[in-house]
Amino acid sequence: MAGLLEGKSGLITGSASGIGRATALAFAREGASVTVADIIDDAGKKVVGEIESAGGRARFVHLDVTSESDVENAVRSTVDAFGRLDCAVNNAGTTGAGGMIQQISLEDWRKTMSINLESVFLCLKYELPVMQEQKCGAIVNVASGAGLIAVPGLSPYCASKHGVLGLTKTAAVENARCGVRVNAICPGSTDTPMLRAAMDASPVMEKMIMSSLPSGRLGTPDEIAEAAVWLCSDRAAYVSGESMLVDAAAVAR
Ligand SMILES: NC(=O)c1ccc[n+]([C@@H]2O[C@H](COP(=O)([O-])OP(=O)(O)OC[C@H]3O[C@@H](n4cnc5c(N)ncnc54)[C@H](O)[C@@H]3O)[C@@H](O)[C@H]2O)c1
Repeated sequence: MAGLLEGKSGLITGSASGIGRATALAFAREGASVTVADIIDDAGKKVVGEIESAGGRARFVHLDVTSESDVENAVRSTVDAFGRLDCAVNNAGTTGAGGMIQQISLEDWRKTMSINLESVFLCLKYELPVMQEQKCGAIVNVASGAGLIAVPGLSPYCASKHGVLGLTKTAAVENARCGVRVNAICPGSTDTPMLRAAMDASPVMEKMIMSSLPSGRLGTPDEIAEAAVWLCSDRAAYVSGESMLVDAAAVAR
């Protein structure tokens, strides 16, 4: 049976680790050719190796999502390598600085905004024209449950993820007539190196996270990746502008 993304080509930012890595592996399993793009070269190349060992097609490109020329290069080189860009998952992100709003430095605020929000603007800026010309394509921006509700102590992260949802909706409406779909995923607390580091750094944060889960457990990166696969597949042909929670009811409670 053909995979859900058979014959498509995809670019996934921040795919050396966590949700991005699981998404790259899932895309390849479903038949897509994948550009693994990350600021960490060794781990990214390892993901390419894993995909190739499983019989899939992938390539690595070094990418700092805060660099416009890196983003432009990641998109252009994907088209050069695979002939087109059908799917993009704008996933790279950081927890950023924590603390009460008055304790956050302007520098830390800008850094988080640059990695989490400006990066999505840059990715859209270069991905959309390629897809508009093809008259088809699907983009998934990785936001967070923190894009929908407050997270006390994490204002830069929370504001950046709210911004990602605004960008997603605007891009979806701007492109609704040209066959390009733009959606967001809002993962709940997911067991990745990013979340583990945040929990290890703060027992208070760990307690807050673990007590906020109606299911009693963290999500797995694979469970988030499945939503990205579906949103990028033709099965989701009439879905655009959506902010899809994948959080086992954490925000619903
Ligand atoms: N883990 C969670 O609980 C959770 C929940 C909601 C949303 N998210 C979001 O999911 C996304 C992935 O997070 P994760 O938990 O898998 O984290 P992770 O730390 O495991 O992976 C993040 C990846 O992004 C890369 N990255 C960071 N800065 C980059 C940059 N400037 N340029 C290119 N790549 C860069 C890292 O090298 C890493 O490979 C993030 O946007 C995060 O905000 C995570």
